[in-house]
Amino acid sequence: MGKNCLICGFPIEPFLDLGPMPKANAFLSEEEFAGEIFFDLKAAFCPSCKMVQLLDQPARESMFHDGYPFLSGSSSHMASHFQSLARDVLEHFIPDPTAFVVEIGTNDGTLLKHFSEAGIRHLGIEPSAGVARAAQEHGVQVHSGFFDEALALHIVRDSGPADVFLAANVMCHISYLHSALEGIRILLKTKGVAIFEDPYLCDMLRQTSYDQIYDEHAFVFSLTSLQNALQPHGLRVIDVNPQQTHGGSMRYTVAREGEHVPSKGVEKLFAAEKKSGVADFSTYEKFRIRCGKSKKDLVRLLTDLKQKRKRVLGYGAASKSTTVLNFCGIGREFVEAICDSTPAKQGKFSPGAHLPIVPSRAFRAPYPDFALLFAWNHAKEILEKEKEFTAQGGKWIAYVPEVKILG
Ligand code: SAM
Ligand code: TMP
Repeated sequence: MGKNCLICGFPIEPFLDLGPMPKANAFLSEEEFAGEIFFDLKAAFCPSCKMVQLLDQPARESMFHDGYPFLSGSSSHMASHFQSLARDVLEHFIPDPTAFVVEIGTNDGTLLKHFSEAGIRHLGIEPSAGVARAAQEHGVQVHSGFFDEALALHIVRDSGPADVFLAANVMCHISYLHSALEGIRILLKTKGVAIFEDPYLCDMLRQTSYDQIYDEHAFVFSLTSLQNALQPHGLRVIDVNPQQTHGGSMRYTVAREGEHVPSKGVEKLFAAEKKSGVADFSTYEKFRIRCGKSKKDLVRLLTDLKQKRKRVLGYGAASKSTTVLNFCGIGREFVEAICDSTPAKQGKFSPGAHLPIVPSRAFRAPYPDFALLFAWNHAKEILEKEKEFTAQGGKWIAYVPEVKILG
């Protein structure tokens, strides 16, 4: 039996099978290898509302919990990105000093702390209690829980409606999207705005970055599919701003239908998406073929380096790396370990492939011959930081938009 769309209920069409996959952020100890849980990672397209979605997603509590290791502040580039977003919001969407801002997916407070510092009434919603504590340490008010319609009703009852609702890299994580969107409708003041930022479908298709597909990403949005999801809630996209973060994202400004005039950019993006084929199944079939080629090319390159007895280290144990390692079947025979700056990942092993995660300083002790750049979305920051590696003859391996040795 086929599955139905999480947004409109229409039968969906699977287009990519990435095989048995562990949870992207389930870094584990050696004792936990035997009990590791896998699910089938498959992506599908809805021919009716055009939403790209996972066929199956693990339970939300099994992904977002006290030990959730991702920290927004681990990239200085992301920290300045959020500082500039906060500046924009404070300038354009905060009508007066009594304004109320709600953010979901608050994580360690990298974005919301700027509102706290500006003395703005705010509330963060964050189910992963460990990172929520980090936000509290930054002076941010946080409620530990999952945002949905029921929680929105509680927030309005306790704190009143919101002027601004922020959600960076979290709306696409919410498989119960209608409940969250209804929550936004309940929460927003008449003229209020919601600002979402999520990995953008057209960037994923253009760059063959299939590693955007993992357990946490229930959806990969386009403007077209997001607007179809918003419509039953009386909400619409009033502005769009492409972002370079996370390998290509889109910032959507959303408001109640009829309360703000949509920008010309919205119309233009609808037209560009139509032209690029986001609504055609054949686009996804072509994407699948390119993903297969990318896998073959990467395995061929790593096999060649192994035969030449070259040392290869991974750089950045990003969530995305779990998809690449497991889909391509890359284990310790190809890549010695992955260097990562996140304390909660260090000393553990990568999900499924079981590569050891070592601190960033291990990269220099001594440098490998090649570094496989898993955190490719942070390439600028990392290549700048690790200039000495290339100066000493080291080479970076990239696989987005295609497999190649840089330089
Ligand atoms: N917003 C941060 C950023 O962009 O760096 C964190 C993004 S992180 C990938 C996603 C965060 O959303 C996690 O901290 C997770 O615990 C949280 N989250 C997941 N589902 C949520 C929900 N229903 N309501 C609020 N937060 C949620
Ligand atoms: P992300 O792509 O999901 O943000 O994950 C990036 C991973 O890379 C995260 O685990 C932190 C790590 N990282 C480093 O180890 N060094 C760095 O300089 C940067 C920017 C990230």
